[in-house]
Amino acid sequence: MLLIKDASEVFLPDGVQKNASILIEDGRIKKIGKNIGRADEVIDARGKTILPGFVDAHTHAIFAGSREFEIEMKLSGKTYEYIAEHGGGINYTVKKTRDASFHQLLSESKERLDRMLEYGTTTAEVKSGYGLDTKNEIKMLEVAKELDEKHAIDVIPTFLGAHAVPPGMEKDDYVELVINEMIPEVADRGLARFCDVFCENGYFTVDESRRILKAGKEHGLTPKIHADEFSSCGGAGLAAEMNAISADHLLMASDDGIKRMATAGVNAVLLPAVPFSLMQERYAPARKMMKEGVRVALATDLNPNCWTENMQFVIQLACFKMGMTPREAIEGATINAARAVGMENEVGSIEEGKKADLVIIDAPSHVFIPYHFGVNLVEKVIKNGKVV
Ligand code: NIG
Ligand code: FE
Repeated sequence: MLLIKDASEVFLPDGVQKNASILIEDGRIKKIGKNIGRADEVIDARGKTILPGFVDAHTHAIFAGSREFEIEMKLSGKTYEYIAEHGGGINYTVKKTRDASFHQLLSESKERLDRMLEYGTTTAEVKSGYGLDTKNEIKMLEVAKELDEKHAIDVIPTFLGAHAVPPGMEKDDYVELVINEMIPEVADRGLARFCDVFCENGYFTVDESRRILKAGKEHGLTPKIHADEFSSCGGAGLAAEMNAISADHLLMASDDGIKRMATAGVNAVLLPAVPFSLMQERYAPARKMMKEGVRVALATDLNPNCWTENMQFVIQLACFKMGMTPREAIEGATINAARAVGMENEVGSIEEGKKADLVIIDAPSHVFIPYHFGVNLVEKVIKNGKVV
C-alpha cells in the first residue's frame, strides 16, 4: 500500500479536489479523498498536484539516427515535402533504421522512453514505419514488444507499413506488399493492435488508404490514420467511414470531415509540436472540433522531424496555439489520449479501480503546466502503484 498524502490538488474527471490524498493497493487506485487511511509507504504531497500519468497517443519513438540537418532547411523556408525530396524526410530515417541492428534500435529507442517517463508519460503508442519492408517492419515491432516488456512505460504497438513508399519500389507494388504480406504476418504474430496509414498527397491516397485499413481490419487491426496534415484530401471522412479509433494531425480537415468524425465517434489526435517543429503558423482547429463534439486527444508525434518526448510542452502548445483551456489540454493528454489508444478503462484518469499511473507535479495546481513552461514540472512518476 502506498499513500500519497495531502496534495494541494488532485485532478479528477469532474473537477479538482483540494487537499486530498490517494491510497494505492496492488498497483491500483483504492481511495481518493481526505482521511482515507494509512499505508506503510507515504509520500508527502503538500503543495503539489497529482495528475493522471500522461498517455502519448501518437509516437514514432522507434527510429535510428537523427535529422538535425533539416533545421537549416526549415529556417530557409523549405517545406516538409521539399526536404523529403532532397535527402531528408522519412526515407532518410528508413535507411538508418534498416541499417541498425535490433539491439542498436532498442537502445536508441529506450533512451527516448526513459526521457518520456521522466516527463510524466506512463503509456505510449509507438508505430513502425521506418522499415518499409517486411523484415524491418517486424524488427521495429519486435523492438516495441521488448520495450513494452522491459520498460516501465506501457507500449501500444501500431503497424504503419504505409508510411511512405520505399526507394526503388513502385507504389502499387508496395501497397500489395503491405496488404498481402506485411499485414497478415504482423497480425499472425500479434505484433500490433492498430493499423495506420499516412494518407496524404505524395504518400497514400484515400483509395489506397481505404484498402490498407480494410485489410488491417480483416486481420483484427483497428484503423488509425494520419489525416489531412498538409492538404485537405479526405482523411477525416475516411476515418469516419472506416470507424477508425482515431484520426491524427487534421490541420487541414474540412468542416464536413470534422462533422463526420463527430457522428462516427472518431477521436482526434492533435500534434501541435509538428507545426511548431516545421515552423508553421497554422495549427489544427481544436476549438472547432470540440464545438462539433469531437473528442480531442494530444500527442507528441515524437519522430526525427519533431523530436520531443515532453507531453507538458504539448499541453503548453495546445493552450497557447490552439486555444485549449488547461483542463481541456490535460484531458487531451490523459483520458482522451487513452480513448484514442483503446485504454480508457485502465488508464487516463484518477478513479478508484484504475491503474495507479500518476504524476506528482511540483506546483500547487494543474494550471501551472501551461503557465510555468520550458521546465520539467514532474517530480515523481508512479507506474502501476510504484515510484519509478
Ligand atoms: O506523423 N506525417 C507523417 N509521419 C510523421 C513524420 C515522420 C518523419 O518525418 O519521419 C508524422 O509527422
Ligand atoms: Fe505520425
